[in-house]
Amino acid sequence: MAQEIIYTNLVIEAIDDLVASLGTPSVYVIVDVNTAKFVLPILQSQSEAVKNAEIITVLAGDVNKGPDALQKVWKELSDKGATRKSVVINVGGGMITDLGGFAAATFKRGVRFINLPTTLLGAVDAAVGGKTGINFNGLKNEIGAFQDAVAVIISTLFFNTLPMQQMLSGYAEMLKHGLLDDKATLAELMRYNIENPPATPDLLLHLIEKSVGIKQAVVASDPHENGARKTLNLGHTVGHAFESFAMDVEHSPIPHGYAVAWGMVVELILSHMKLGFPSDTLHQFAQYIKEHYGYFQITCEQYPQLLQLMAHDKKNDTPEHIVFTLLKDVGQPVIDQTATADEIKSALDIYRDLIQ
Ligand SMILES: NC(=O)c1ccc[n+]([C@@H]2O[C@H](COP(=O)([O-])OP(=O)(O)OC[C@H]3O[C@@H](n4cnc5c(N)ncnc54)[C@H](O)[C@@H]3O)[C@@H](O)[C@H]2O)c1
Ligand SMILES: [Zn+2]
Repeated sequence: MAQEIIYTNLVIEAIDDLVASLGTPSVYVIVDVNTAKFVLPILQSQSEAVKNAEIITVLAGDVNKGPDALQKVWKELSDKGATRKSVVINVGGGMITDLGGFAAATFKRGVRFINLPTTLLGAVDAAVGGKTGINFNGLKNEIGAFQDAVAVIISTLFFNTLPMQQMLSGYAEMLKHGLLDDKATLAELMRYNIENPPATPDLLLHLIEKSVGIKQAVVASDPHENGARKTLNLGHTVGHAFESFAMDVEHSPIPHGYAVAWGMVVELILSHMKLGFPSDTLHQFAQYIKEHYGYFQITCEQYPQLLQLMAHDKKNDTPEHIVFTLLKDVGQPVIDQTATADEIKSALDIYRDLIQ
């Protein structure tokens, strides 16, 4: 099913027009406790489609993106009489679009859904691209389905209530898209100050549109992640290891985008070592990350654990090889690159020198 992406700050009109075009009065809105508080009241007071909809509320956060929440959504859809003609509107960050998308993809073998991302990370990453799912058995996104939303409505209106940390987390994925695209896109992103944005919200919407376009082009060429889509893993082999380390070993979780930001620095160092990625661009990027994201503290005693976490990344087919997407230059990704433990340790050493 083709996925329409609508970029607008006239969100209410967009929702109502879209729901009207789908030809059903049966609308179910899925929110978490935060979007129920910050976003839902605006929609309920202004949108005809949402005013008359059934609301399904789940607990917030990735820790709640599991079978219990999924079952709650299925049960409420069932109890409240949803049919195959119903439409689900997912109002939230990536947790809601993943969970709600999967619930919709599976309820009665699939009902249509609309994503209304309310976080920057949701807008530029999770809500687009057709991946839905839940965490299961202690593993992230272990159960899921590829299913496109009928439409994704992207607006910057709801970001006002997001903590800056959340904005920066999403912005890291935009920087990743910039690295995958070209030097001009990356430079434009590094000029925009997400922490002190200009008064015109349209500029951010424009940057988001460009960023999503980059992701869309990659996804269109490889919808089921057999090849080109792996380029989107840039920064994520090391990033996921940092994220798991912070969560499971240090019991002090870090936002996903921060982990990816630091992971991109390490992977650009590896890119320089193995593919000749230009060192001036590497230094500028590392400096930008240091300035906006700070530094993820690691010591060499922690290297073995970090390497083990990289090897267990589920995107790696054979645990003895750690697989990366690296860059020859900005806009020139190379997938399925392997690195030895010694090369990765050297890259981690340089990371510590560069941005500590
Ligand atoms: N499907 C994909 O391709 C894909 C890609 C990347 C990430 N993801 C998934 O996305 C999730 C992370 O996304 P996220 O960072 O958006 O997390 P999230 O959905 O958990 O949202 C982060 C926090 O912000 C709150 N929130 C959401 N909108 C708000 C608003 N407008 N104002 C105030 N608070 C608001 C949420 O309640 C939550 O507490 C993870 O579950 C991850 O696995 C999926
Ligand atoms: Zn990511």
